Amino acid sequence: MQKIGVCGNGLMGSGIAQVAATSGYDVVVLEADQAALDRGMKRIRQSLDKFVEKGALQAAQRDEALAKLRPTTQLEDLKASDLVIEAIVENMPAKKDLFQRLDALLAPHAIICSNTSSLCVIEMAAVTKRPKQIAGLHFFNPVPIMKLVEVVKTIVTSQATIDTLFAVAAKLGKKPILAQDTPGFIVNRLLVPYLLYAIRMYESGLASKEDIDEGMKLGCGHPMGPLTLLDFVGLDTTYFIAEIMFDEFKDPLMAPPPLLKRMVLAGQHGRKSGKGFYDYEKA
Ligand code: CAA
Ligand code: NAD
Repeated sequence: MQKIGVCGNGLMGSGIAQVAATSGYDVVVLEADQAALDRGMKRIRQSLDKFVEKGALQAAQRDEALAKLRPTTQLEDLKASDLVIEAIVENMPAKKDLFQRLDALLAPHAIICSNTSSLCVIEMAAVTKRPKQIAGLHFFNPVPIMKLVEVVKTIVTSQATIDTLFAVAAKLGKKPILAQDTPGFIVNRLLVPYLLYAIRMYESGLASKEDIDEGMKLGCGHPMGPLTLLDFVGLDTTYFIAEIMFDEFKDPLMAPPPLLKRMVLAGQHGRKSGKGFYDYEKA
C-alpha cells in the first residue's frame, strides 16, 4: 500500500487525505467540483498549520505532506491507487455509482473502503467484482485528532483485506477496532440515539440548548455537549444516518426528530453551513 485515493474532500475526506499524506502515503483526493475541492484543501492547510503552531509538526513535514497531496476532479486520476477510501455524501445510490466506477478503473489488487457512518457496506460491495476487497473504514471527526478507526468486515470481506486495513490504520496513527456490517457499527449505534434524544429534549422545551450541552460537558466530562457535537458532525449527515438506522432497526430512538428534519430543510447544516443549533462564522 503506497498510493491512497480519497473520494470526497469534505469534512471527513479532507481529514483522511491529510492524515494519509502526513503518514507518508501518496494521496489523490477527488471532489465533485472545484469549489469543494478548494475548500477541503484550505481546511487541510489550516489544520496542518495548527499542528505546526503547536510544535506537533515541523514546517518541513507540513510542506512534505502538502506535496504528497494531489487534488483532482477527475476520477481517472485515482487509477494507480492501491487503496481508495470513499468519503462522499451519506447516500447509497451515490456511493454505489462511485464503487462501480472505481471497480472498473482500479487494478485488481486494489482495496476499496467506505467511510460510511451507517450504510450497509455489503450493498456497495455487491456492485463490484471484488467483494472480498471491500470493507468499511470508519474514521471520526476531526480525523487529524481522533484516534479511532472502525474496520468494518462484511460477511464476505477477506481476512487478508482486514489485516491490510489494520496495518494501514496503524500506519495512520489510529487505533483500529473490528466492527460488523450493521448500521452505526459500534460507536454510532450508541452515539446517534443519544444525539437524537438531546434534540428531542430541546425541541420539547425540557431545557435550553446551553444547559443540555453544559450538563453533558460538566456532568459527564464530554468534550462537547450533544447539540454542539451535532453542529460539528453536520445536521444533514446526522439526518441521513438517523434515517438509515431507523429504516434498519425500526427503533423509535433512532428516528430523526421533526426539528432535525426542518433544520436540514432550512439549510441549517451546523458549523459547516454557518448555522445549526448555534451560529458560526462561515468558514
Ligand atoms: N486539526 C488540527 N488540530 C485540531 C483540529 C484539526 N482539525 N481540531 C482541533 N484541533 C486541536 C486544537 O488546536 C487544540 O490543540 P491544543 O489542545 O494542543 O491547543 C485541540 O485540538 C483542542 O481543540 P480546541 O481547543 O479548539 O477545541 P476543543 O478543546 O473543543 O477540542 C475537539 C476540539 C478535539 C474536537 C474536542 O472538542 C472533541 O473531542 N470533541 C468531540 C468530538 C467527537 O465526539 N467526535 C466524534 C464525532 S462522531 C463521528 O465522527 C462519527 C460519525 O460517523 C458521525
Ligand atoms: P461533507 O458533506 O462534508 O462532504 C462530502 C463531500 O463529498 C462534499 O464535499 C461533496 O461535494 C463530495 N462529493 C459528493 N459526491 C461526490 C462524488 N461522486 N465524487 C467526489 N466527491 C463527491 O460530508 P462528511 O461529513 O465529510 O461525510 C462524508 C462521509 O463520511 C459520509 O458517508 C458520512 O456519513 C461519513 N462520516 C461523517 C462523519 C462526520 O462527523 N461528519 C464522521 C464519520 C463518517
